[in-house]
Amino acid sequence: MKNITVIGAGTMGNGIAHAFAQSGYSVNLVDISTDALEKAISNITKNLDRMLSKEKISLEDKNSTLSNITISTELSSAVKGSDLVVEAATENVDLKLKIFKQLDKICDENTILGTNTSSISITKIAAATNRAEKVIGMHFMNPVPIMKLVEVIRGKGTSDKVTNTIMEISRNLGKSPVEVNDAPGFVANRILMPMINEAILTLEENVSGVEEIDTVMILGMSHPMGPLHLADFIGLDVCLSILEVMYDGFENPKYKPCKTLINMVNDGKLGVKSGEGFYDYSEGPRNKKVSSQFIR
Ligand SMILES: NC(=O)c1ccc[n+]([C@@H]2O[C@H](COP(=O)([O-])OP(=O)(O)OC[C@H]3O[C@@H](n4cnc5c(N)ncnc54)[C@H](O)[C@@H]3O)[C@@H](O)[C@H]2O)c1
Repeated sequence: MKNITVIGAGTMGNGIAHAFAQSGYSVNLVDISTDALEKAISNITKNLDRMLSKEKISLEDKNSTLSNITISTELSSAVKGSDLVVEAATENVDLKLKIFKQLDKICDENTILGTNTSSISITKIAAATNRAEKVIGMHFMNPVPIMKLVEVIRGKGTSDKVTNTIMEISRNLGKSPVEVNDAPGFVANRILMPMINEAILTLEENVSGVEEIDTVMILGMSHPMGPLHLADFIGLDVCLSILEVMYDGFENPKYKPCKTLINMVNDGKLGVKSGEGFYDYSEGPRNKKVSSQFIR
């Protein structure tokens, strides 16, 4: 495995491209938006510069990582000769089904088709193709270059050989993969998203404020980041999509997204990526203050 295509250059796609490129893979990063592609390269460069200044990588590592990445808006030419495609486009079932149907037509027959979906059924995505044995979930965590976990999700038809290959590739990236079976939200989000939703409900019911709720979880539960800050970091639109998939998939009201989350997404307050969520990031992602909407 040498050639990788990453589809989607947003929060996750640029991190996935970075991780593969830094481990010596040749990466084609594809997006429908040239703006997203340019931002992705600038973000990867910034992250490499930070690693360089902390002496975690050399200047040569930085340059070779960047030279391993090619950007494109042309999916069919980008996937030619790819051994693995990792799809990290917007979390939307219809979009993913459309992309996988197209990938099945345009990719070599041996190409493995991975998806970074946070919650959508791998079996359902695989059914859009004629190669279910080669379709697999490769769920990276944010920020990808730093976080060690990859959930490797087997759809009903995923072969042992493909699962083993993806476990091996994940280890080559310096990650610790965990194999899980296909179920809405898999393991990570099935446990995380109800907690985030409950934190938002706690805020909605004025039990406490944004910083106070985050502080309780940081100091009381030793979480490295509070749930509201984490939701901003993940993207509130992504959180909402995951909860909707789990609510539909389990038909259980405990996964119902709360009103405040829905309203914030409708208002375009998506967290760090839009500049405002539960916190205001107008002075940069590391300089957060509570959003004016939630000042008590
Ligand atoms: N944000 C997180 O913390 C996180 C963590 C793990 C997994 N995920 C999953 O990763 C995927 C991407 O999430 P994100 O947070 O990076 O989203 P994002 O909104 O930051 O980026 C999505 C990108 O996909 C692009 N896109 C949309 N349609 C496309 C198409 N047809 N072809 C190519 N590109 C297309 C958009 O232009 C955008 O740049 C989702 O499935 C999400 O559930 C997200």
